[in-house]
Amino acid sequence: MMNTPDRTVSKDRIEIAGQPALKDVFKDDFYIGAALNVDQICGQEPEAMALVAKHFNSITPENILKWEEVHPEPDRYNFEAPDRYVAFGEKHKMHIIGHALVWWHQTPDWVFQDASGKPLGREALLMRMKEHIFTVMGRYRGRIHGWDVVNEAIAADGSWRKSKWYEIIGEDHVAKAFEFARQADPDAELYYNDFDLENRPKCEGVIRLVKGLQAKGVRVDGIGVQGHWFVDHPPMSEIEDHFLALAGLGAKLMITELDLGVLPFYPLESKIVDLSSFDAETRKKYNPYPNGLSEAAGKDLARRYADLFSLLRKHRDKFGRVTFWGVHDGQSWRNYWPITGRADYPLLFDRHCQPKPALEAVIKMAQGKS
Ligand code: GLA
Repeated sequence: MMNTPDRTVSKDRIEIAGQPALKDVFKDDFYIGAALNVDQICGQEPEAMALVAKHFNSITPENILKWEEVHPEPDRYNFEAPDRYVAFGEKHKMHIIGHALVWWHQTPDWVFQDASGKPLGREALLMRMKEHIFTVMGRYRGRIHGWDVVNEAIAADGSWRKSKWYEIIGEDHVAKAFEFARQADPDAELYYNDFDLENRPKCEGVIRLVKGLQAKGVRVDGIGVQGHWFVDHPPMSEIEDHFLALAGLGAKLMITELDLGVLPFYPLESKIVDLSSFDAETRKKYNPYPNGLSEAAGKDLARRYADLFSLLRKHRDKFGRVTFWGVHDGQSWRNYWPITGRADYPLLFDRHCQPKPALEAVIKMAQGKS
């Protein structure tokens, strides 16, 4: 975890006596969730967990239920952290999310190979998918309330992502995953989750996918809009347009991985690059707030968050949940992706677990005070 102090965010200025909890402010609208990392789940960050207990009524595991973590080898499952995760959620009576069963990323190579390293055929991969879904979902049957069954099956142009799932099983890998998930826990809600949905071709691809599933009688309970956006992009009107387009599917919408990056966009290269590999000028350009967010940038973020929550509230009939991808800025993946070594400030709590002006702005908006 990075330790860059948020110097401009003074505790005294932001800490409001008896500050209301986010989950209470939005209790008539939607669940308010946070993604928890393994340290938090395993008790290493008590301060962050106190915030979670106060402000959030839904949790998502950042990594521990991804295939590579929960099922790293064919006959080995790691359930210690997931068990703790579910126990925490139950203790606090939260809406508990599972993430993610079938994904092209963070899935070990062995999943797609036989014992001699040759690519698996369709039937063998389907059996492996079923065994994984039954084992992981089955363990938490009735306890994890909703699952991201398939993550990111559609490419930027709206066509199928050419993942190993797609290449080996075919288009129906998504329908099959939902079918197995429905059998594994008939009462859990089942979701399709993806990013960049505000881009029209991708949004249309996802709409085609979900309509295709619905036409086959496969029920999709929710569409997850990841919401990895920026302080200045995309425009709010594009965000609203795609909410409306997706809402036409009739499934509940959720923002599943919300964070608003404040750093300049940098296109992902073939792998993550290290900030220290740039010259001084480029480092400054791509990492403008190494020692804390400026007051002006903090205000921009606060305004953007208030606008976004105002929009979400306007469409509260369509949304079941809004989940942040992390509790505080220090844990955010944006500090190390696509450039490692930057300091980003995408969440509502700073690196010391202190509320930021953005939290205050969201609460004021919700209370009709802004
Ligand atoms: C995707 C995944 C998440 C997470 C984020 C960024 O959106 O769904 O699990 O990996 O990327 O870290």
